[in-house]
Amino acid sequence: MAKDVIIACDFSSKETTLEFLDKFKDSPRKPFVKIGMELYYSAGPEIVREIKARGHKIFLDLKLHDIPNTVRKTMKVLSALDVDMTNVHAAGTIDMMKAALEGLTRPDGTRPLLIAVTQLTSTSEERMRSELLINATIGETIAKYASNAKEAGLDGVVCSPLEASLVKDACGSAFVAVTPGIRFADSAADDQVRITTPARAREIGSDYIVVGRPITAAEDPVAAYNRCITEFLQ
Ligand code: C5P
Repeated sequence: MAKDVIIACDFSSKETTLEFLDKFKDSPRKPFVKIGMELYYSAGPEIVREIKARGHKIFLDLKLHDIPNTVRKTMKVLSALDVDMTNVHAAGTIDMMKAALEGLTRPDGTRPLLIAVTQLTSTSEERMRSELLINATIGETIAKYASNAKEAGLDGVVCSPLEASLVKDACGSAFVAVTPGIRFADSAADDQVRITTPARAREIGSDYIVVGRPITAAEDPVAAYNRCITEFLQ
């Protein structure tokens, strides 16, 4: 199975993003890039086309969650952008995830990888209980949402690296685990709580690690990216 490091390009403008990616012009390996809501809503589909034209793979992280018909039609639009990976919230139900998959599948049968967000890592068990009236544990919810995603035909889930083995146990080793919350052993945690290193994420079973600030805010982003690659893919 393909394993890779995905750089979270959490910038708010096209100019800043392209300036950042220019640093990798002479890099032998073109980084896989994550475009999230902030950049997509400010720079639009054009930024996706531009980064794609530069030869990068793209994870379009828009976390769709709406009625199945709307999600199907929106996924059809995103599929035409030729991204490599995109996502939905598993909370949208199995029907919504199936609709997403239908919309994403191109006439020739090809499609980007489709993964589901289980429980956001910012949601605590306490808030699940008091605000969402969910009485199961976070672990049970993640395993169930991941099984639902698998049943709908999706390729995997986004989860904390510490939950990757739980997902693999519930859905099998081929089910993809995409994991943010990555920090070098000697770098700042920032606002992330459940973190681990690239090497440990690989051991636990992550297929793709999503790394933002440890690379984007580094003095030498190319060196930080290469360090991630070495630690994660060794
Ligand atoms: O800068 P940092 O490495 O913390 O960035 C992590 C990226 O992964 C951000 O784009 C963040 O929005 C995303 N993410 C996350 N935790 C989740 C889902 C997505 O950190 N549960």
